[in-house]
Amino acid sequence: MVALARSSRPQPQITEASAFETDVLEGLSTTPKRVPAKYFYDDAGSQLFERITEMPEYYPTRCEMRILRDHAADIAKLIPEGAALVEFGSGSNKKARILLHEAPKLAAYVPVDICGEMLEREVAELRPDFSQLKILPVTADFCFPFELPAEAKAAPVRVGFFPGSTVGNFEPHETAAFLRNAGRILGPGGTLIIGVDLIKPAEVLNAAYNDAGGVTAKFNLNLLVRVNRELGGTFKLDTFEHHAFYNRERHRIEMHLASLKRQKVWVAGETIEFRAGETIHTENSYKYSIESLGALARGVGWTPVAAWTDTQDYFSIQAFTLADAAATRHTPH
Ligand code: SAH
Ligand code: AVI
Repeated sequence: MVALARSSRPQPQITEASAFETDVLEGLSTTPKRVPAKYFYDDAGSQLFERITEMPEYYPTRCEMRILRDHAADIAKLIPEGAALVEFGSGSNKKARILLHEAPKLAAYVPVDICGEMLEREVAELRPDFSQLKILPVTADFCFPFELPAEAKAAPVRVGFFPGSTVGNFEPHETAAFLRNAGRILGPGGTLIIGVDLIKPAEVLNAAYNDAGGVTAKFNLNLLVRVNRELGGTFKLDTFEHHAFYNRERHRIEMHLASLKRQKVWVAGETIEFRAGETIHTENSYKYSIESLGALARGVGWTPVAAWTDTQDYFSIQAFTLADAAATRHTPH
């Protein structure tokens, strides 16, 4: 089947091919169709994610907040005085706030996020509560190397914080690449504190990604709203449906958008054809054990040093130190 063809329909003028356009067109021209999960996070998507975290079925945020509150003092021992704390995918900052209260003598706090609007808004709310702290936001895609602000580079040591199990949205090989990249960014003596969702019964997982309030469905469909707005897409939202299910063999939740009928959609001047029932794979959310993430991290030079879980063993916070700076030096993405 030819998925892409030049359209004769008039389209909004799109002059410069953005990474979003390139990735969407490439992803929709492959079989099965897919779009990288990082594109969920425009301003509306970031706000919808915050609403997901309040859904009764979505346990990860509550579990991680509980672990952070119960073990804040111990976790903060991994953040030496004078360190720069770099948060990857900072979103609402609410988890970092707990650590910032416990580790007050930081050189800087550097929240990094792909969604500039959310980052600005959250930093504006954080500043009055931590008036003594240097807060240096960076809008960046952390899948690629990016520069830290000078104050963070000058700090004697950098600690990375990657909560929310956002690491689970990477493929395992991408996780390895991210960990290498984080090693390069944090540098020798670096520590990384990662929040990771754990393998658990499928019913609990399926419920978490199919909340009865329909917020996860809205979050998933918002990707099409974004494509329509930013890439001149013609997706009709009522002809696509949210599908999310646990894939036991691969230990991952898969999210898809399923076309309810055979149809053609235009995106950035290209025609995309859908069969009835055909899906766009929009997200994987991998679930780990403490051992499986530990093995992956060890493979790219990070040594597991501590792990905490909630009472149900639903979620974990795992800490790693950089074993050997050489391991992170020259492996390409
Ligand atoms: N850390 C927060 C938010 C998790 S949602 C929490 O635990 O609640 C995932 C966050 O990562 C969002 O804020 C999203 O904008 C950001 N994000 C996703 N992919 C990213 C990427 N490639 N680069 C930078 N930020 C990214
Ligand atoms: C940010 N990330 C870890 C969330 C997750 O659980 O995979 C995103 C999400 N997708 C659907 N619900 C929440």
